[in-house]
Amino acid sequence: MKRLAILLSGRGSNFEAIANNVASGAIEASIAVVISNRPEARGLDIARQRGLDTLVLPSKGMDREAYDRCLIDGLRPFQPDLICLAGFMRLLSAAFVREFPNRILNIHPSLLPAFSGLDAQHQALAYGVKVSGCTVHFVDEYLDAGPILLQAAVPVHDRDTEETLSARILEEEHRIYSEAIRIALSGRYRIDGRRVIVG
Ligand code: GRF
Repeated sequence: MKRLAILLSGRGSNFEAIANNVASGAIEASIAVVISNRPEARGLDIARQRGLDTLVLPSKGMDREAYDRCLIDGLRPFQPDLICLAGFMRLLSAAFVREFPNRILNIHPSLLPAFSGLDAQHQALAYGVKVSGCTVHFVDEYLDAGPILLQAAVPVHDRDTEETLSARILEEEHRIYSEAIRIALSGRYRIDGRRVIVG
């Protein structure tokens, strides 16, 4: 059985969707650990309620290299096959990425490379795009930048607010993150430059 590690900082709705798919067998894997850099993350409560192993590794005041070493040490005993960033609000160092080559995924609420970084839905509305969406990508040491595994588009309506657009995107996030995890775990893909060829 493949082993997932989930890294989060907040609400944890993507983690919850993944956990539901693990529980139903739609993702053939177990969740080995849920790690948060914020002790108050709601995602941790969800994990505890489900009886999953959790680890709180507070990042406040730590520099990136030191924190990432602590993260690597925290993850190692759980031997994850795949690390899923699910609202994990930290950039990872090159040293961390090297430790888990092509084994880290992230989800971002825009059609990358548009609107990377914080408040992607706000950025999309402010720019006036008519279509936005979400992206699951492999993680490298740059922000929202690694090879793209899956994307889903949603329309932007004239009356949208950040909340309504975010909700529409989130529904797709919950769907494609699990699909991307299934692909990544199955190994039925290859990376050719920036292109991830599935099948
Ligand atoms: C999601 O919009 C995700 O795309 C972004 O952070 C948000 C996390 O939401 N990276 P949740 O914690 O999974 O509910």
